[in-house]
Amino acid sequence: MINVNENYLKLRGSYLFSEIAKRVNAYSAANPDKKIIRLGIGDVTQPLSPSVIKALHAAVDEMADASTFRGYAPDLGYEFLRNAIAKNDYVDRGCDISPDEIFVSDGAKCDCGNIQEIFGSDAKVAVCDPVYPVYVDTNVMAGRAGDFDEALGLWNRIIYMPCTKDNGFAPALPAEVPDLIYLCFPNNPTGATITKAQLQEWVDYANKNGSVILYDAAYEAYISEEDVPHSIYECEGAKECAIELRSFSKNAGFTGLRLGFTVIPKELKRGGTALHGLWARRHGTKYNGAPYIVQRAGEAVYSESGKAETKEQIAYYMKNAKTILDGLKAAGYEVSGGVNAPYIWLKTPEGLNSWEFFDELLTKANVVGTPGVGFGPSGEGYFRLTAFGQHEATAEALERIKNL
Ligand SMILES: Cc1ncc(COP(=O)(O)O)c(C=O)c1O
Repeated sequence: MINVNENYLKLRGSYLFSEIAKRVNAYSAANPDKKIIRLGIGDVTQPLSPSVIKALHAAVDEMADASTFRGYAPDLGYEFLRNAIAKNDYVDRGCDISPDEIFVSDGAKCDCGNIQEIFGSDAKVAVCDPVYPVYVDTNVMAGRAGDFDEALGLWNRIIYMPCTKDNGFAPALPAEVPDLIYLCFPNNPTGATITKAQLQEWVDYANKNGSVILYDAAYEAYISEEDVPHSIYECEGAKECAIELRSFSKNAGFTGLRLGFTVIPKELKRGGTALHGLWARRHGTKYNGAPYIVQRAGEAVYSESGKAETKEQIAYYMKNAKTILDGLKAAGYEVSGGVNAPYIWLKTPEGLNSWEFFDELLTKANVVGTPGVGFGPSGEGYFRLTAFGQHEATAEALERIKNL
């Protein structure tokens, strides 16, 4: 009889969001008259912009005509999109990335989940704590995480880098040298960022030790401050040690449309092998490309009108972030994030842990957020609110929190 991949049996249940749903459903059933406001979601709420919609319609029409119909897309993505990405996201920012170092995909989740495949099964992995769970779970599936320590709430073969108030939610360079380092800035869930000088330290550390950095910049478009790098390739030497992951989900609202990309510079080699070639092989074998119409929609994000509309959408969400930040501060909470990211990270009030605060907020203010401990043990005593809601509902939620 065939054996199953036992690593999958080690996975922890997706406790966080199912537990949230369970508690919210139970409360709603018992209190059907209460209007619940959800500030826990990581999904966008604004519709696609007019330029994107126009490009989608035009591409659909092309698919209806034999002379313009497209079948399978090129492995790495259409050139029109890779050229637009290379120019706007990299060359215009002073980063020397060429279109053939860009791999178009159907989103950053798949890429950050799949990229570990090109590394050795014994690679030592480092993640931030708290962390976007995909980085950990995909390494559990691949057998790199070891065993789960119930008491500590950690996998014993993963190097955790605590992100706490004391280090400004920016991890310290680990004492034990990892092979693979997952960094995400602006960060989900804490909303924290690091400066270019801090990121340069990571690049230097990786180059010195032969590590590879997987840099998830899914929230890059939310950066508002000067000294925060938009790409790891702004750092000297990053092309020799870093892979960058990007998404169209949170800047242009493509969470349902699906589009992202991964950058692997040609210089990036380990053990004499270029990682670009490995990922190209993997892409060619296991993936048949993002849909033509979606890649045309992605191209429209880089048009002049597309850029202006995207900026407006981000401004809408960041207005929510400010409402949340100001409201929480006025109510006496200790808060961070929300300036370069759509996530606000707050310290739960004295005496309440993350889940106790969740219950308090749900039952007394009818507001739903995400307990910080769900992202890792260092998230205990913290809580995440997101800026992706409708503005009126967000403002009402904050009034309720202030009146708690
Ligand atoms: C840090 C981070 N990376 C990647 C993703 C997934 O992006 P995509 O929608 O492109 O798959 C998310 C989504 O919430 C995220 O928070």
